Amino acid sequence: MKIWAHRGCSYAYPENTLQAFEAACRYPITGIELDIQLSKDGKIVVIHDEKVDRTTKASGRVLDFTLEELKRLEIESHPDKEGVTQYAQIPTIEEVFELVKPHCLKQGMLINIELKNSVVRYEGMEELILETVNEWGIQDYIIYSSFNQESIKMLKKKESSVKTGILAASASDCLAFSEANPVDALHPCIKNLDVENLGKKTGLPVRAWNIRKYEPFYPDGGEVEMQDLDGLERIGVTDIFTNVPERYL
Ligand code: G3P
Ligand code: CA
Repeated sequence: MKIWAHRGCSYAYPENTLQAFEAACRYPITGIELDIQLSKDGKIVVIHDEKVDRTTKASGRVLDFTLEELKRLEIESHPDKEGVTQYAQIPTIEEVFELVKPHCLKQGMLINIELKNSVVRYEGMEELILETVNEWGIQDYIIYSSFNQESIKMLKKKESSVKTGILAASASDCLAFSEANPVDALHPCIKNLDVENLGKKTGLPVRAWNIRKYEPFYPDGGEVEMQDLDGLERIGVTDIFTNVPERYL
């Protein structure tokens, strides 16, 4: 079973921050997963929600902040030795590439970039992320995913060599898309693996993502419900996205 750090090591560190990605790079895992949105001035930022409310101390939509304004927002992190709360920032995609690229080149670390463009469409996001990845010369290490089927189709159309994964709430929805469209992997929710021998049927990797109920995020803590990796493998899952790659290793 291949292990991916979902939003970085997001149980131990604030999700989608450089700290969480840095921690992930210390482990011999397959890759890291992250989410992108666009700022008001069209910069690619790494944050899961369309709003900053849940992960920062501020409030409002990502698209209503410039990059400079987003950089001022505080993400609560681990206290220092004196017990003083420390803060992380929302990273740009370039900052993540700078951190992770050496690990891509050295140990083949992959990066799954999820385009968060189902709620806000973010026109031009596809071109922008393709361009940025090409500038960094890390095309071979990138897998693009999205719940937005049009976006996945568009990425392939713009650059046929890119690797994509279709995200959906169930395995059957992923399968239906893959039967009608070119795609390189299925990314279903771990809760709805409703097709038997999925991998064999498609010949594609099946990367299942976990849910908050089983795996909390920092700083919530609490119980983690570990999955039966052998059982998942038997039904065709090849990879999992997890907030706790350190535990699975
Ligand atoms: O890419 C898998 C997973 O990240 C999709 O769900 O909500 O964590 O972005 P979410
Ligand atoms: Ca995601």
